[in-house]
Amino acid sequence: MLLPCLSLSALLLLLFPAALEAQFPRVCTTPEALETRTCCPDWQGSRCGYRAGRGLCATYSLMSNAYIDYREDWPHAFYDSACRCNINFDGFDCSQCKPGFKGPHCNEIHSVVRKEITSLTAEEKSRFFTALEKAKRTNSEKYVILESNDTSIEGNYEFKNATVYDHYIWLHYYAAKPYRNSTRNAAHQGPAFPFWHRVFLLFIEREIRELTDDDSFFIPYWDWTKTNHCNICTNDYFGVSDEHGHIHNDSLFSEWKTMCTYDNDTLGKICISPTKTPLHPIIRNPGKDIATKLLPTVCDVRYTLAAEKFDTPPYDGGAKCSFRNRLEGF
Ligand SMILES: *[C@@H]1O[C@H](CO)[C@@H](O)[C@H](O)[C@H]1NC(C)=O
Ligand SMILES: *[C@@H]1O[C@H](CO)[C@@H](O)[C@H](O)[C@H]1NC(C)=O
Ligand SMILES: *[C@@H]1O[C@H](CO)[C@@H](O)[C@H](O)[C@H]1NC(C)=O
Ligand SMILES: *[C@@H]1O[C@H](CO)[C@@H](O)[C@H](O)[C@H]1NC(C)=O
Ligand SMILES: *[C@@H]1O[C@H](CO)[C@@H](O)[C@H](O)[C@H]1NC(C)=O
Repeated sequence: MLLPCLSLSALLLLLFPAALEAQFPRVCTTPEALETRTCCPDWQGSRCGYRAGRGLCATYSLMSNAYIDYREDWPHAFYDSACRCNINFDGFDCSQCKPGFKGPHCNEIHSVVRKEITSLTAEEKSRFFTALEKAKRTNSEKYVILESNDTSIEGNYEFKNATVYDHYIWLHYYAAKPYRNSTRNAAHQGPAFPFWHRVFLLFIEREIRELTDDDSFFIPYWDWTKTNHCNICTNDYFGVSDEHGHIHNDSLFSEWKTMCTYDNDTLGKICISPTKTPLHPIIRNPGKDIATKLLPTVCDVRYTLAAEKFDTPPYDGGAKCSFRNRLEGF
């Protein structure tokens, strides 16, 4: 796994300058922070924990002058300066440890093994779902979300509160919605796909660890090849859904509501305010999507792993012989 790891750091440097990672820390959305275009919060009395050797407030140079969508060229549409954390430190203020490290100096190895979801003990399973439920209900103190009906119009956005889990959903929206006048987006159908999603998982695991005070929390994986049906579409996992995709009342997910309305235009709409539109229950239709009726088979997995090149031109959903494109399912 040496190669993917190397590419990971290289790509992260390119895609996520500093630890800001295209999020909006609440402390950086004050009028003062936006006015001074600076997102360098204090940690233990100095910006970005500078005095403790954690990081420094760095200026980011502009990659291109004419932005057409303010999600591009992060963080430039909002900030000129943001924290750049030293090795092992992480977070918008360098207060956190990089994934894989812990301790007051972030120099102790922190290793957690992600287990297969149906192999969790009853206690682990209960802890997992209780943690998700808590994340879905608890307002995020650290982050806010940005809503916009058109991200190509300067200043056309509002910051809103969201729960810890909904912030996580929003991060995916922010990176998955196409840029204006484009079919491309930041996290899919391109080389960033595996790396972006790894960082995404690491991020939510860390948020939930903090929220639940459980350092060993992890998101399990699902080995769908164990059975020939959806063995987690049951009420003690993710819920049985009816023909309309509504989740059975016995599942805790029947109470879950979506935070952003679904829309499929390409105008760079990020999230339409939940206060302006009624909240909808989540819909799950496993196996009913016309385009992706079936889960990949073991044979598909082998075929994907057999690709020799990580990615190939034109580095999109049409790339041939590309590990990344096969992994994404195109
Ligand atoms: C987008 O939001 C702005 C500001 O709230 C509003 O003036 C405009 O009409 C909206 N445009 C669309 C297409 O909904
Ligand atoms: C948003 O969350 C913050 C922090 O919890 C809280 O102080 C504020 O009142 C909330 N704002 C709204 C509009 O709910
Ligand atoms: C986006 O496309 C619309 C319609 O095709 C066009 O009017 C507009 O000028 C384009 N905007 C940009 C920024 O390219
Ligand atoms: C779920 O509960 C609602 C009201 O609480 C009820 O109208 C509905 O019929 C129930 N659905 C099922 C599948 O039991
Ligand atoms: C979204 O796309 C689907 C399928 O392409 C289409 O049927 C539907 O009308 C679209 N919805 C909106 C709001 O444009």
